Amino acid sequence: MNKIHAAITAVNGYVPEYVLTNHELETIVDTNDEWITSRTGIKERRILKGEGLATSDLAVPAVEGLLKKRGITADEIELIIFCTTTPDMPFPATANVLADKIGAKNAWGYDLQAACSGFIFGLATGAQFIESGKHTKVLVVGGDKMSSIINYKDRATCIIFGDGCGAVLLEPNTEGYGVMDSVLKSDGSGRAFLHQKAGGSLKPATHETIEANEHFAYQEGQAVFKFAVTNMADVAAEVMERNNLNSEDIAWLVPHQANKRIIDATANRTGVSADKVIINIERYGNTTNGTIPLCLWEWENKFKKGDNLILAAFGGGFTWGSIYLKWAY
Ligand code: UT7
Repeated sequence: MNKIHAAITAVNGYVPEYVLTNHELETIVDTNDEWITSRTGIKERRILKGEGLATSDLAVPAVEGLLKKRGITADEIELIIFCTTTPDMPFPATANVLADKIGAKNAWGYDLQAACSGFIFGLATGAQFIESGKHTKVLVVGGDKMSSIINYKDRATCIIFGDGCGAVLLEPNTEGYGVMDSVLKSDGSGRAFLHQKAGGSLKPATHETIEANEHFAYQEGQAVFKFAVTNMADVAAEVMERNNLNSEDIAWLVPHQANKRIIDATANRTGVSADKVIINIERYGNTTNGTIPLCLWEWENKFKKGDNLILAAFGGGFTWGSIYLKWAY
């Protein structure tokens, strides 16, 4: 029998309605549209507004739309991997919350935390359950309500993040399409530069931690940038080299959307020309786990069966990784 690959057979995304523009940010912190655009490439980002709405509420429309597109019902899903850095609550897993909200009664699931590399790690992990023959329908969701952990007084950090969610369905393919290879890496010593100081077991939340804004994401932007710009580019090049792919073989480069300058460095390193690099950072900013599935969703109509895609991400942890996949439809 031919080898089983995990193919993406459907993709969908959802971004909330509210648009937070650079011009509105100018009224909140000491910044300006010119600085944000030239340093990051971002013009606007989406924000989930409203009481009682969480990351799972971004995932529900994304997944319901995906099921409709594929023509299946929620009870056919066997496993949900929810990649997120902003779970609805520390426990239980947002995967369980989502399963309940969409009626995926036959699914088990768990959350995967790898900051901005989460979707890459989740896709690689989900693929294993398909390749082993254990499951035939695995949902990999990447989504974050970043606005819930952003300090809108920290001008160097608040300008890059936004809210959004995307999801893919993985199914077995024996014709040579799907996830072909992955290179996944982490280095925990990088945690000093990007983390949330309080609210975990190291430092449970108190009045003092709230007053010190330690429940928000803390980022030393320049240090993260330095690691991201080389590692994301290197890992994309590594997965290409070990599969004997050169830039002409690549139909689409799908980079994590954290900063346009990091995306450009990855494109240069891999030699992939600008017209093949998927970029929507100007409209959504950095949605953390949402960036790559949102790119796949928006470009889906341009993909052709057999297209070689290189996905690459870098994030807090540090974590980074790249996936080579052959588009299956
Ligand atoms: O998603 C995965 C992980 N995250 C990333 O990959 C993000 C990586 N880092 C970055 O993208 C960039 O470091 C940032 C966009 C976050 C910041 O850009 P930067 O070019 O590294 O700025 P900086 O923090 O080095 O600041 C440069 C200057 C400073 O002024 P002085 O000290 O040179 O006078 C800042 O105070 O720019 C100033 N600045 C701003 N000015 C206007 C910082 N933020 C702003 C702002 N508006 N929003």
